[in-house]
Amino acid sequence: MEKRILILGAGLEQTLAINEAKSLGLYVIACDQNPNACGLKEADVGIVCDINDTGHLVEIGRRYNVDGVFCHAVEIPQVVSDIAAQLKLPGLSREVAVRATDKLKRIRWLRENGIPVANFMPVYSADEIEEKANKLGFPLVIKPVDNAGARGVRVVNGKDELKEAYGEAIQFSKSKVILIEELLSGPQISTESVIYQDQLITFAFADRNYELLEDFSPYFIEDGINYPSSLPEETQKAVLALVDRTIRILEIDFGAAKGDVIIHNGVPKIIEMAARTSGGWFGAGSIPIATGVNMLKPLLQMAVGDKPDLEVLRPTKKLFCAQRYLIPRESGEVISVSGVEEVASMPGVEMFTSFLPQVGDRIVRSTNHAQRYAQVICTGATIEEAIGRCKNAIAQIKIQLKPLTE
Ligand SMILES: Nc1ncnc2c1ncn2[C@@H]1O[C@H](COP(=O)(O)OP(=O)(O)O)[C@@H](O)[C@H]1O
Ligand SMILES: [Mg+2]
Repeated sequence: MEKRILILGAGLEQTLAINEAKSLGLYVIACDQNPNACGLKEADVGIVCDINDTGHLVEIGRRYNVDGVFCHAVEIPQVVSDIAAQLKLPGLSREVAVRATDKLKRIRWLRENGIPVANFMPVYSADEIEEKANKLGFPLVIKPVDNAGARGVRVVNGKDELKEAYGEAIQFSKSKVILIEELLSGPQISTESVIYQDQLITFAFADRNYELLEDFSPYFIEDGINYPSSLPEETQKAVLALVDRTIRILEIDFGAAKGDVIIHNGVPKIIEMAARTSGGWFGAGSIPIATGVNMLKPLLQMAVGDKPDLEVLRPTKKLFCAQRYLIPRESGEVISVSGVEEVASMPGVEMFTSFLPQVGDRIVRSTNHAQRYAQVICTGATIEEAIGRCKNAIAQIKIQLKPLTE
């Protein structure tokens, strides 16, 4: 009989997982709180519900007698592990899911276990931030412990910026716990790995493009990736070894792990290692296009208790590949959006996804990754060509704004 899988999230990115599951012959029950989420229609059953509501999701899982639960590109590994545990399905333990998600628990665990990370301090209330910031030293990075997509993350250069930055970070935190960290600088890398039994395969490794770092300062706006990495072979090896060690130390022993690494003064340090798949069309976007790997297939197979086909994590090609985003630089009310139709057929465009605002919408200059409006992935005969093609494609799209009146 065909196996059944519960997929949490049915937005644009999650639809990749829904379609992959269907092509594996799985019966898909997809959930999303947004009734217009495109994947709800792609699934065999689409249910509108909160994907953080473990109780309700367990009930749905029971009702449909599912064989597995999976989530792609959403920071809810604890929910996935809770559902798996309650329904006795394959999954990661809750303890590990929490340790790899809560930024304070994670960075503490990593430091205690000898993994190089930034110096840090937790901040539990506005009263203690100044004293702690003075101890840590400026410039520093402030971030909520429980969010993703760079929401609420920024640089704080001095005492006078603390109050505002704390206010922003706390807005993005349910727990109201904030981390302050030493500001690291240097090339940044995204990695992604699949872990099954004693096998750990890091199939994705790319340079993150931070050329807009200064422009968007004090916020951290990444504008896509370049593949393959331009870092020296030795550095790449050191990063891979660190990623491997970090995953093992966190005890992520099932599913996906996505890493953010920075090379600070020549030393690779871990910014993040999350027990989930990456968002932003990385592990299920640019990496498959550049290398031919398919991470979703083995991850979905594992989720329903089948032996995963890990062969598909082996690269079958190595193309020059870049990704770039449409990132709003200004705030205003949208009066027109044009140029979108042309993008998909431009030279070298392998994938184009847009989630553009509508006329009348108010948009803001980006302060986090959730405010990007389209992404394009291009290949080329050289990395420069791939990047140039991305830039041309993004430049096609014009969003005209008028100033906000209030
Ligand atoms: N200590 C740090 N030093 C320098 N840059 C940082 C530091 N912490 C975070 N960043 C930057 O901010 C981005 C978002 O922070 P991160 O901790 O990865 O949170 P999120 O879960 O929102 O992605 C990182 O990808 C990195 O570019
Ligand atoms: Mg991150």
